[in-house]
Amino acid sequence: MENIYKPYLAEIKEIIDETPDTKTFRLQIKDPEVAKNFNFKAGQFAEYGVFGDGESTFCIASSPTRPEMIECSFKVYGKVTQALRRLNEGDTIGFRGPYGNWFPLEEQKGKNVVFIAGGIGLAPVRCVIDNVLDWRKDYKDVTIIYGARSVGDLVYKYKLKEWKEMPDVKTVITVDPGGESDGWDGEVGFVPTIVEKIAPKAENTIAVICGPPVMIKFTMPVLKKLGFSDENIFTTLENRMKCGLGKCGRCNVGGVYVCKDGPVFNYAQLKELPDEF
Ligand SMILES: Cc1cc2nc3c(=O)[nH]c(=O)nc-3n(C[C@H](O)[C@H](O)[C@H](O)COP(=O)(O)OP(=O)(O)OC[C@H]3O[C@@H](n4cnc5c(N)ncnc54)[C@H](O)[C@@H]3O)c2cc1C
Ligand code: FES
Repeated sequence: MENIYKPYLAEIKEIIDETPDTKTFRLQIKDPEVAKNFNFKAGQFAEYGVFGDGESTFCIASSPTRPEMIECSFKVYGKVTQALRRLNEGDTIGFRGPYGNWFPLEEQKGKNVVFIAGGIGLAPVRCVIDNVLDWRKDYKDVTIIYGARSVGDLVYKYKLKEWKEMPDVKTVITVDPGGESDGWDGEVGFVPTIVEKIAPKAENTIAVICGPPVMIKFTMPVLKKLGFSDENIFTTLENRMKCGLGKCGRCNVGGVYVCKDGPVFNYAQLKELPDEF
């Protein structure tokens, strides 16, 4: 019988130091046949394993429209991410996935898209941004609002530069007050304040938001004030997971398995979940 927990072997082709405590791995599945047939959708996640230390759950941060490499970004946190941090280019990790649902990008064609992210929350949003940009003509206005505590905490600086240079994308980067450094030419202010200042129009627009709970908590009333409906606001949940495929019950909230029914939900769906949200 096939073992559903058996990971693919993936080689770390490149490691990018995003911030002092956040890294990006560019991965290639070792089995050429599996690599050739591997596909996923924006918003899905995977389990990344260090042999002898366990597995960690991260989104797939690269876009499905750019299948050459699978990318993930992680903040060093507990045991597994510390073990991942010790690895080098050329090392092998376990990779299980893709798991979960995805952002309904096909259904949203013809709309404006506003991306709002904070800190490492740009990782799950980044795959959606690149996916939308690769299908640019299918969407109307694209706005990216991204914030971090300080300039040093901004992830994907090379991507931010690329998006800022695109004439048909409005990219606004902000750091918290006090987090600016010499030469900083972006905004200074918390993400909700900047969203209010930019005031993206809600009509025919979807918002994709991901970041620390406090950022989401204070951005939601701003989006509501701007006229966004709950159905048009999407986010991705990061509940603690183990199996990733609906078997262990670690991630469920009421009758909902975040690993299988999510991790992508709109706010109308989240309101239906028990109080812990
Ligand atoms: C769908 C999904 C996508 C994610 N994407 C990313 C990503 O792209 N980048 C990223 O940096 N992180 C992401 N996370 C969060 C990430 O999985 C955890 O923060 C990470 O596993 C913790 O690192 P660790 O494995 O080293 O911690 P562990 O050693 O496993 O745990 C350390 C401590 O933190 C607690 N803990 C660990 N994970 C969680 C959690 N999710 N919720 C609450 N408590 C927790 C543990 O119970 C333990 O006490 C995602 C989570 C989910 C579910
Ligand atoms: S993580 Fe095991 S059921 Fe969701």
